[in-house]
Amino acid sequence: MDQRDLGDDIEEILVTETQIKHRLTELAADIDRDYEGKDLLVVGVLKGAVMVMADLARALHSHVRMDWMAVSSYGSGTKSSGVVRILKDLDTDLKDQHVLIVEDIIDSGLTLSWLLSNLKSRGAASVEICTMLRKPEALKVDIDVRYVGFDVPNKFVVGYGLDYAEKYRNVPFVATLAPHVYS
Ligand code: IMP
Ligand code: MG
Repeated sequence: MDQRDLGDDIEEILVTETQIKHRLTELAADIDRDYEGKDLLVVGVLKGAVMVMADLARALHSHVRMDWMAVSSYGSGTKSSGVVRILKDLDTDLKDQHVLIVEDIIDSGLTLSWLLSNLKSRGAASVEICTMLRKPEALKVDIDVRYVGFDVPNKFVVGYGLDYAEKYRNVPFVATLAPHVYS
């Protein structure tokens, strides 16, 4: 999709396709360097992290293994419930593994903070986080995020994996929606 396909649904583009691509190359270089000589398992959080995983993994120069988890903390609305449920668990045993959780966005941080302690409790050698977007003003818990693509304002955003009621995930940039979309 591009901007023309979206008519007047888009209010403002916050991160462009070019900015995302450029930033992912930088993050991939950091990750290649930080995990040199180690086996890395990247864990994508479905469904939002599909785009970041696909692009980040291809920007890496190292071999990595990929696994996926699906958790739910949001319904089809725009507010965090704080309640996390595993919808799909990993296929991989994490014992002694170096794990990098790949996320689309950290909003309240409640989902990730829960996920972090869940994965750590499985005996991983290390668990770090890489997120494409972060809303610093929305953070409710203190979590250490090693790799951040972009900080964005405390607004509901869509695109690049992020949805509103399952729409807009395949928009290649990150944007806010016009008010009429919500009504
Ligand atoms: P958190 O638990 O509040 O950090 O949010 C967790 C999940 O909510 C994210 O991984 C997203 O899937 C979803 N989410 C949070 N903010 C947004 C947004 O602005 N747009 C779309 N989804 C969001
Ligand atoms: Mg998510």
